Amino acid sequence: MKRSAAVILLALGVWGFIAYWTSTNDCDRKVTALNNPMKAIVQCEYGGPDVLKLEEVEKPVPNDNQVLIKVRAASLNFIDAGIMRGPIPLRLMGTGLRKPTKTMLGQDVAGQVEAVGKNVTQFKPGDEVFGLARHSLAEYVCARERALVIKPANVKFEQAACGGIAALTALQGLRTGKIQPGQKVLINGASGGVGTFAVQIAKSLGAEVTAVCSTNKVDLVRSIGADHVIDYTKEDFTKSEQRYDMIYDNVGNHSRAERSRILTSNGICVLAGIGSAGVREGQLSRIGGNFTAFLASRSSRQKFQMYRTKVKQEDLAVLRDLLATGNVTPVIDRTYKLSETAEAMRYLEQGHARGKVVITVQQDEQVSLSQ
Ligand SMILES: NC(=O)c1ccc[n+]([C@@H]2O[C@H](COP(=O)([O-])OP(=O)(O)OC[C@H]3O[C@@H](n4cnc5c(N)ncnc54)[C@H](OP(=O)(O)O)[C@@H]3O)[C@@H](O)[C@H]2O)c1
Repeated sequence: MKRSAAVILLALGVWGFIAYWTSTNDCDRKVTALNNPMKAIVQCEYGGPDVLKLEEVEKPVPNDNQVLIKVRAASLNFIDAGIMRGPIPLRLMGTGLRKPTKTMLGQDVAGQVEAVGKNVTQFKPGDEVFGLARHSLAEYVCARERALVIKPANVKFEQAACGGIAALTALQGLRTGKIQPGQKVLINGASGGVGTFAVQIAKSLGAEVTAVCSTNKVDLVRSIGADHVIDYTKEDFTKSEQRYDMIYDNVGNHSRAERSRILTSNGICVLAGIGSAGVREGQLSRIGGNFTAFLASRSSRQKFQMYRTKVKQEDLAVLRDLLATGNVTPVIDRTYKLSETAEAMRYLEQGHARGKVVITVQQDEQVSLSQ
């Protein structure tokens, strides 16, 4: 028995060693000449924002089911910072053990359709669209047809570029919490990328919203519709006498017991996240705490609910309508050029963005490759 375990461990060790040292990416296969170059953000190694370089790569070609988009804007998300740094759990999940397998970054996009594959029926060249497209931190990107919707004419590209992951996460999370008009909803982490959407979407669905944020964001969350604001530097929301039908928790910095205390008897705590973008201390214990709360609540009336954001065109269409009617207005903290992506990521990783950080891509502008 002991011998078999030792053999399995040894085999795993050898496999891990080989897998680690053979983990490679495009950067190791230098291409001499590009047929159709475009500029893109490339990361050859895992690390801090300095690993992000503006380089020339081959312009992508859409397959039969894809749409080629001329990118006008993209926004940064928590996951981009994670992919850039490559914490061990992400590497084990397939981003590459030693080096990032995919060397390009970006998830959210807004831009103009340049070409479509032969099976694409919903879009044509010239359409202005937004949604999700892997590797959108580039001049051009290919996206699945069902990951896009038409951008409303009254919404700017920079705003539409915010309507991807963060907005879907907020919408789908509030639905996970079975939000109803008139309910009392508390949003912990209300002032960042996801939180500013959650506040506005919850208001548009008729909830009474209490937003939790730091002192200098109090005015911001009030301005986007929060009915009540708790400054977490002055007050612990879990000590409140108020009871909430739902806690939408972007931070996960309180125990199950503390959160249960302020939920109604059949209230739901939606476990949306673990705080600000960037790899920081305490994240693993927040993940562990959320997971334990989820499991422990299976047999109780109060539920702690996990969920994973899914790319659904029908949800993007809901967001498009909320943007078009002005019921939701993306909060843009700062806008950077594509060549300034490393600086933008550095800012996002400080962990106190007021809404979204956006990258604009202007093809007519000559961006220096040395930056
Ligand atoms: N479930 C999913 O599939 C999914 C998908 C995308 C994102 N997420 C999660 O969503 C979370 C938020 O992402 P994001 O894009 O909104 O990040 P973000 O833009 O960096 O914002 C995070 C916000 O958290 C706030 N914060 C930090 N510590 C806090 C505390 N102790 N109390 C209250 N607020 C605090 C910060 O505001 P202050 O400056 O006021 O401190 C910041 O505005 C992430 O943890 C991510 O994992 C989940």
